[in-house]
Amino acid sequence: MTRILSGIKPTGNLTLGNYIGALKHFKDFQDSGEVFIFIADLHALTLPIDPEFLNQNTRDLAAFYLASGLDPKKATIFVQSSVPAHAELNAIMQNYLYMGELSRMTQFKEKSAKLNQSAIGLGLFAYPVLMACDIVLYDADIVPVGEDQVQHVEITRDLVNRINKRYGDKTLVLPNYQINKVGARIMSLSDPTVKMSKSDPKGDIFLKDPMNVVRKKIMSAVTDMGSEVKFDKENKPGISNLLTIYAAMREISIEEAEAHFVGYRYGDFKREVADAVVAELEPFQKKYQEILESGSYLEVLREGAKRADAIAKVTLKRVQKAVGLLDIYEN
Ligand code: AMP
Ligand code: TRP
Repeated sequence: MTRILSGIKPTGNLTLGNYIGALKHFKDFQDSGEVFIFIADLHALTLPIDPEFLNQNTRDLAAFYLASGLDPKKATIFVQSSVPAHAELNAIMQNYLYMGELSRMTQFKEKSAKLNQSAIGLGLFAYPVLMACDIVLYDADIVPVGEDQVQHVEITRDLVNRINKRYGDKTLVLPNYQINKVGARIMSLSDPTVKMSKSDPKGDIFLKDPMNVVRKKIMSAVTDMGSEVKFDKENKPGISNLLTIYAAMREISIEEAEAHFVGYRYGDFKREVADAVVAELEPFQKKYQEILESGSYLEVLREGAKRADAIAKVTLKRVQKAVGLLDIYEN
């Protein structure tokens, strides 16, 4: 059966970008494959974060996963740090990705540029090593992510090929990334030339925003010259972004969204985009609230950790053996 794995960092309020690019689609795999969805809390430590904020975000993310329609009976939902094999495999794998290739990662370059240059953590640099471990531990075939994570899945593939060449081609499973046709890169509403991101709150829609705020943000989104609602990323980045959001909400193609808005003025167009977002986020938020308040997510995470641990251990053992680490409990 196909194994699907993905994760999100509990680093802040999730955005509509996270929702459309990743979260919304995780559930689509749970009927046809074996799904592992985790909270990348160790990755959240790669940039300074307040402990209480991290703790709360972790709970939030668990509730968001469940509210998105992931069924804990079908999908394994867990916290990265609750499965020790991630850190153990990391200690091995860090020797097989090279400093040159890690320093070429776009995410590292972007994130480290914003930091005091004398305080860039080793974890931020080595981020793709841990991410590769997350993926290979579960023998994942498919990794659904937004566009910004493709490079990290590609470096995972390099690592898998390197390991398999050296230790035998059954050591690790080669993963493929999967990005959505619509919405792999949702842009900021205030500057549609930059990505909507948790660390850049201007122009974001947060999944926890009250609905009147969501509407207001969409109605005041930056638009472009002209008056036609047309998809043209170059010349109409604002309109194109809103069209993408609409198409993602309605689960239609960009062409279908464009056809729907022929003859619309920008104001009416934005109103319908806002309606579509509210129609989806409102019930989602309600479910999230209920799950968070009931505390039911904790039992899900405990059960998930058990299931994940059992699988991750087997892969770890296989790698330890392959590289020559002695198992003192075996003869
Ligand atoms: P992160 O917030 O970096 O942990 O990202 C979690 C997931 O959301 C990853 O799969 C990202 O690729 C995806 N993602 C983050 N921001 C966006 C965005 N603006 N548009 C589409 N996908 C995104
Ligand atoms: N790096 C991902 C992000 O920032 C989160 C992540 C960590 C992840 N490990 C992963 C995603 C493994 C997919 C698979 O969004």
